[in-house]
Amino acid sequence: AADQAAVSAMRDMFLQHDFPGKVVIGEGERDKAPMLFIGEQFSDKPLLFDIAVDPLEGTNLCAQNHEGAMSVLAVAPRGSLLHAPDLYMKKVATGSKIDPKLIDLNLSLSEIISNVAKSLSKKPTDLRVTILNRERHRAIIEEATSLGVNLELIADGDILAAINTTGYFNRSDLYYGTGGAPEGVLAAAAMKTLGGQFLGQLIVPDHLDIASRDKIYQLSD
Ligand code: FBP
Repeated sequence: AADQAAVSAMRDMFLQHDFPGKVVIGEGERDKAPMLFIGEQFSDKPLLFDIAVDPLEGTNLCAQNHEGAMSVLAVAPRGSLLHAPDLYMKKVATGSKIDPKLIDLNLSLSEIISNVAKSLSKKPTDLRVTILNRERHRAIIEEATSLGVNLELIADGDILAAINTTGYFNRSDLYYGTGGAPEGVLAAAAMKTLGGQFLGQLIVPDHLDIASRDKIYQLSD
């Protein structure tokens, strides 16, 4: 019901404003999602914008009455948002004080933590690091724990986890791990606006033929 309410509110708003944008990240394909489906448009005017939505980010958080669920919407000039497929994405996000040359998804988490610490003139044990609490993250959770960082393991909501590295709502020095690719694009849009670094790499299953298999996306992409 919360998801439906958020979808309807967003769609009504776009229709009311005869908004010249097309949904590139949405609730799914047209046959599976009645509203805000990928490709949906709201106006006959020439298209000017890409729209990415996650009307209810943190569905479980909302259903269980925990904080941190959000309605998320990004609008950007046409062609500037990655049309991310519904796959996982490896992600790293840090605030704007970190030298972008020191953050790379080819580095290990320990190397990234050491570089973030150097950039902020802090010790690793002073850093706040956020990771989604998932079995697939067991090795990196152990790695971060062994370095003695202040580790925040979150149940859900990695858009907010990335945004928190900008200090806008809360403060974290580093978000790292694998989450939804659509959420990665929305996080990147927020980071571009609020200031900060975001890198993402799609996790492409072997049976899929996707040209950008190994590409590491940066904000400017
Ligand atoms: P939903 O609200 O769409 O379920 O997403 C919540 C979320 O925690 C995202 O923030 C994150 O990117 C993704 O799920 C991680 O996926 P999974 O739960 O499969 O690890």
